[in-house]
Amino acid sequence: MKETVIVKNLKKTFVLSRKQRALNKSKEKKKVAVEDVSFVTYPHEIFGLLGPNGAGKTTTLRCIATLIKPDKGEIIVDGLPLHEEIQIKKRIAFLTNELKLEDQMTPAYAFRYYAKFYDLSDAIIEERKEKLFNRFGINEFEEVKIGDLSSGMKQKTSIVVSLAHDPSIIIFDEPTNGLDVITARTVTDYLKELRDEGKTIIISTHIMGIVEKLCDRVGIIIQGKMTLCDTVENVKKLSPNQDIEDVFFDLYQQYGGELT
Ligand SMILES: Nc1ncnc2c1ncn2[C@@H]1O[C@H](COP(=O)(O)OP(=O)(O)O)[C@@H](O)[C@H]1O
Ligand SMILES: [Mg+2]
Repeated sequence: MKETVIVKNLKKTFVLSRKQRALNKSKEKKKVAVEDVSFVTYPHEIFGLLGPNGAGKTTTLRCIATLIKPDKGEIIVDGLPLHEEIQIKKRIAFLTNELKLEDQMTPAYAFRYYAKFYDLSDAIIEERKEKLFNRFGINEFEEVKIGDLSSGMKQKTSIVVSLAHDPSIIIFDEPTNGLDVITARTVTDYLKELRDEGKTIIISTHIMGIVEKLCDRVGIIIQGKMTLCDTVENVKKLSPNQDIEDVFFDLYQQYGGELT
């Protein structure tokens, strides 16, 4: 099957501002966020990037989404190199907690506003809006200001807005973080539906249970390095108890992580 995303030997370093250095209590002027990360994804799968906080997951996803430039390595998205930024953006959804919709907008307004960037006809926009708002139970609230919505409803609005253009590659950074169980379930069920339709889903998470329940394949990132990448089934087989957590802690110690 053809690869949808190829990440080869990705490296990304940030130059730290004086304020960041003070906060980190560090004299280092640079922070290597991603040292060496490689993986590929295919249609019809949910790929999980699993790793502790600070491992480099968000940085990797931001590079794929063309928001920041890698220092080294190669990334191909749907056959396109990263400098084809506009074409790539048409093919992907990218959602992270850092992206916030304007409080003054309503869900209906936000959806139409962002969908317009993709040159979709009004008829298509309305059709997609109907379908997604129904699926996520947003209809009732579509004319309420986003600032007045519950956090779950805000998150669901961000999700549907990110999917307005029906992208074939969906990149969600910690998609269920901060969601109540019901909303989290709606989101994970929908991601499975999109997978079954043939889309590529890439998520990041620090929660092993999410990988076990949701992902087909997983890449384990520790301190900026891809330490293992395989099907969830094969990763579990590496532990006598079929436990992904055991495999993770073995890798964590092997790759210099400290257990406190
Ligand atoms: N813009 C930035 N400037 C400086 N350091 C950063 C920046 N973004 C991330 N980092 C650092 O890079 C490391 C990896 O961050 P990140 O990719 O957000 O990890 P994760 O998503 O796995 O928690 C962390 O140590 C983080 O503090
Ligand atoms: Mg992150």
